[in-house]
Amino acid sequence: MHILHVVGARPNFMKAAPVLRALASQASVRQTLVHTGQHYDAAMSDVFFQQLEIPKPDFNLGVGSGSHAQQAAGVMLAFEPVVVERKPDLVLVYGDVNSTVAAALVCSKLGVRVGHVEAGLRSRDRTMPEEINRLLTDQLSDMLFTPSADGDENLLHEGIPKEKIHLVGNVMIDTLVRLLPTAEKHLPADIPSPYALVTLHRPSNVDDLPWLRDLLATLADLSAQLNIVFPVHPRTRQRLDGLGSTPTSRLRLMEPQPYLEFLALQCHAALVITDSGGIQEETTFLGVPCLTVRENTERPITITQGTNQLVGRDLPRLRSAAAEILQQNAGKGSEKNPDKQRVPLWDGHAAERIAQIIVRSST
Ligand code: UD1
Repeated sequence: MHILHVVGARPNFMKAAPVLRALASQASVRQTLVHTGQHYDAAMSDVFFQQLEIPKPDFNLGVGSGSHAQQAAGVMLAFEPVVVERKPDLVLVYGDVNSTVAAALVCSKLGVRVGHVEAGLRSRDRTMPEEINRLLTDQLSDMLFTPSADGDENLLHEGIPKEKIHLVGNVMIDTLVRLLPTAEKHLPADIPSPYALVTLHRPSNVDDLPWLRDLLATLADLSAQLNIVFPVHPRTRQRLDGLGSTPTSRLRLMEPQPYLEFLALQCHAALVITDSGGIQEETTFLGVPCLTVRENTERPITITQGTNQLVGRDLPRLRSAAAEILQQNAGKGSEKNPDKQRVPLWDGHAAERIAQIIVRSST
């Protein structure tokens, strides 16, 4: 069986790595890896391939940045001949980035089976580009691998036949479980504890400059209570340069961090403030308090069973939630995360389950 994987952007890499690994141990499987090139900086791409030990891609489509239409069209035009030439039996796409939906669309038109890893997540907010990507990719997919039971419910509700849906757990947590012992050695030097770890890159936060300015002012206020460590995504860097913002000694802006360094930073953070999807899941697994600067989440399980809280666009709420977490942390002493809960199937073995289902489906 020939399986072709498509990755394009940073959050894809930690999801594809364990699936590539699990399928590599199946004698009947041959694999091809395509990188669309949606993310191309060394810090956004190459370093993840190294640390996650992902094989060198067989193809790099070199699509790069652009409008969503340019990016999706670029992937489709460059990817179609690869599929025609390689004739895979199944194409696996990951997550919800523009590369995901573009590759799924090409395959469905060519009659090639598509498997979507991380299917079924819904924010119900169609102003998010990722929500459109999720909805369309799931409709185009033949095998839908979900990370949690809410994903199955969403898909059934949208009319996806039950036989196509496979609840396998969270592949990103597979990578975390495997690399957590290594990450401990990668905590960047000179990080003053205690600290809050911040990431922001969603257009809804960083493209709205007055809002971004207010958000930064709130972080600067918070830095009176604890240090703030903020690895800055390239999109956010451009906006911050436009604002002419200057970091303070306790609000430290840094380059995007490699996987292991960022995982170590999460583990040791007093709290995390983010608008990322994956970080809501990783902090839930780690038991680290997370404040999500969004009105909604496609990962509600991180709220019901995890450490995540939505603070929306409500800066007083961000301040009070952060203050409450710091107070609770102080009461906990050195005993970290004693109340940590486990989400079912977030156990480090999701990719093995995917590999078994795929191999079984081919016989
Ligand atoms: C994409 C995903 C988002 C994911 C995020 C993680 C979509 C719709 N969005 O958003 O779901 O959470 O990746 O990072 O697919 N840039 C660089 N170097 C790079 C990549 C990007 O400088 O290697 C800059 C470019 O100026 C680019 C901007 O960042 O225009 C945004 O990149 P893009 O891939 O369009 O979207 P992300 O915001 O990264």
